[in-house]
Amino acid sequence: MNAAIRAVVRTAIFHGLQVAGIERGFAGLLMGEIQDLDLKSVSGIVNRGGTILRTVRCPEFKKKLARREAINILRRNAIDGMVIIGGDGSLAAGRDLVADGFAPIVAIPATIDNDLPGTDQSIGFDTAINTAVEAIDKIRDTATSHERIFVIEVMGRDHGIIALEVGLAAGAEIILVPEMPVDIDKVGQQLKIGHQRGKVSSIVVVAEGVGRAHDIAARIEKKTRLEVRYTVLGHVQRGGTPSALSRKIASVLGAAAVDGLLDRQYGKMVGVVADRILFTPFNDVLRQRRKINLANYKLAEILAK
Ligand code: F6P
Repeated sequence: MNAAIRAVVRTAIFHGLQVAGIERGFAGLLMGEIQDLDLKSVSGIVNRGGTILRTVRCPEFKKKLARREAINILRRNAIDGMVIIGGDGSLAAGRDLVADGFAPIVAIPATIDNDLPGTDQSIGFDTAINTAVEAIDKIRDTATSHERIFVIEVMGRDHGIIALEVGLAAGAEIILVPEMPVDIDKVGQQLKIGHQRGKVSSIVVVAEGVGRAHDIAARIEKKTRLEVRYTVLGHVQRGGTPSALSRKIASVLGAAAVDGLLDRQYGKMVGVVADRILFTPFNDVLRQRRKINLANYKLAEILAK
């Protein structure tokens, strides 16, 4: 997100605009935590994880009264346009602000879940995938030494997009995602066949939306009578040095968001699809559910044999 903030600030200044940063997301906005940003405020942040502006989840923003107050604060601070950086919750807040009377908003997709349609990738997804794959490579070493099955839980909320990408890249034997049926009997059988064929370790990547890793590990152990351990990768996926791809996408989207505001692409999310900038209305983004790539799911099954 820092690379996106840097791109927004520097592109806006390039166009002769003044920029302010709202700290701690919508909660900070309601407290009037707004400060001017200049070229120097965003120096040395392109390679830093997280966000210099910090962020918190703000359930209060679901209330019209809170949003009205936010609009008053924006007007009192002479803010003519706003860039929101976040996932579906932030986009929903943006949609509601537009409906309540503050129109000039463009959103940048930033969520490791990569569950928003209208862009090939959200900021943070690639970094999270790389972190998870690196962790699994390490776990694979100990799994092989001890001839164990490892169940590894990754984030993704109710989507299996992270799990599929990570599982494919890490060469997981099994990938469990909420979008597809989960049959632990079948999983056990497949793992046993692999073991009988001489596999010395097996990795099961499970999306958090399927269930808890410890439960799934216990069920697999009962079925296979093989030694099973589990790891929950958790919030480690949400930090660390951003990958080159995450930084590039964030930079491109940040600049495009400012261009979008100047071009009055209000109430839309900016995305990159097949290397082209695309603006999609908030409602269209929020109405659809992003699907997992079925071809890649089948490919992962074939390659895991
Ligand atoms: O949406 C991003 C995400 O990391 C999800 O993958 C995860 O389910 C959720 O946020 C965790 O949220 P929190 O940090 O608020 O517990």
